[in-house]
Amino acid sequence: MKKRAKFSSKLGIVLASAGSAVGLGNVWRFPTEVGEGGGAAFILVYAFCVLLLGLPLMVAEFIIGRHTHKNTADAYRQLAPRSGWIVQGYLGVFTSWFILCYYSVVAGWTMKYLVEAATGGLGSISDSSAYFSAFSGATWEPLVYMVIVMLLCHFVIIHGVQAGIERSSKLMMPLLLMIIAILVVFSFSMPGSSEGLTFLLKPDFSKLTSAVVLSAMGQAFFSLSIAMGCLCTYASYFTDDVRLPKTAFSVAIIDSIVAIMSGLIMFPAVFSVEAVTPDAGPGLVFITLPNVFHIAFGSVPVLGWFFSVMFYLLLLLAALTSMVSIHEPPTVFLIEHFKLSRPVATAIVTIACIVVGSLCCLSFGPLADCRPLFGLTFFDFFDFVSAKLFLPIGGILISLFVGWRLDRDIIVEQLTNGGTVRLPAFIISVFLFLLRWMIPLAVGGIFIKELGIL
Ligand code: TRP
Repeated sequence: MKKRAKFSSKLGIVLASAGSAVGLGNVWRFPTEVGEGGGAAFILVYAFCVLLLGLPLMVAEFIIGRHTHKNTADAYRQLAPRSGWIVQGYLGVFTSWFILCYYSVVAGWTMKYLVEAATGGLGSISDSSAYFSAFSGATWEPLVYMVIVMLLCHFVIIHGVQAGIERSSKLMMPLLLMIIAILVVFSFSMPGSSEGLTFLLKPDFSKLTSAVVLSAMGQAFFSLSIAMGCLCTYASYFTDDVRLPKTAFSVAIIDSIVAIMSGLIMFPAVFSVEAVTPDAGPGLVFITLPNVFHIAFGSVPVLGWFFSVMFYLLLLLAALTSMVSIHEPPTVFLIEHFKLSRPVATAIVTIACIVVGSLCCLSFGPLADCRPLFGLTFFDFFDFVSAKLFLPIGGILISLFVGWRLDRDIIVEQLTNGGTVRLPAFIISVFLFLLRWMIPLAVGGIFIKELGIL
């Protein structure tokens, strides 16, 4: 049998996993949620969610992946043969594909804005809201950009684990971290930026409703790439000497730092122009910020050009490394399950994503009124089903699986690298307690909330 691929270094492992975690979720969703959820009060709750729910789940996925060294579907088949748990393995494969379909649309938008920023087009937009609607509602342009980013992702995945995923992460992640540091300094140097900082960091506990707490949990899960097979798949390429809890901790720290720094970039910049409450979701990045670039840098166009190019490059890099991690689970499933070659499997996933992604893309324009599924547009449907429905279900199933079903010896062996690393027994007990009780109950809360929306 051909030897299965592995990452070549610990640094590669951390950067690839952090690349999966750091994505569009950090740069636009997190700052908006912080703003709406009471500033530092939200950040505090978010930190608890990352620590108590996100980290154990990430480690749980790592355990399954590294123990089996298989794609998610076959990993569950090996660990729990002829049982219903196999569904969870397939859930990982399919939801990854679902997410990629709509995520690539937004990644395409970021590329369009990068091109516009670089060629100076962004500076001449006076009505950024109308501009965004016209662009995203068009037929061909957003489609072309979506296909381009999908092809970039395809290009990475086709080169495999070391030459593709690892090498691209080692290139893109340091660049991303450097850009974000430059932008923070830049944003702080703008006049009036302290108001934005106050908006972001002033704790307002009165806004901490249960809905906010639940959305902090949802955000933590999405941002850490939990429950969709990405981490499990990456862990199947981990070397035996890498320490799983430590790796998970590094990834969570990098992810949280990028999220907070994104807030530190955006709000001072937004508030230095006018005290507007930023739009949520795409609006913040594609409408509010272009406006900021336009107004703030009207007098110094070179700075505006620099800031906007850097910002959209940051977004594109973040989106690409996440896309790569979502492309890999279905690809390696096809390779191992159906014995396909990597180029063929990669092509199948890419084409399938482009076909369904096109429907998501066009649902902002020509297909806006086509709502065959639950009255939602294609984009909203894929977003809702994968991020809001399957994400909590996957989280609950993984915690129950590792907490109750998985052999304790396997857990101990993976956590201690076969007994070579010392780990106090109480840490393992706390880990199991969180997986068995705390996480299923807490995530059940998110799920019920989402059903309430249905
Ligand atoms: N974590 C990424 C972000 O913040 C998105 C992402 C990648 C993701 N892989 C995932 C989300 C798996 C959920 C599950 O944008």
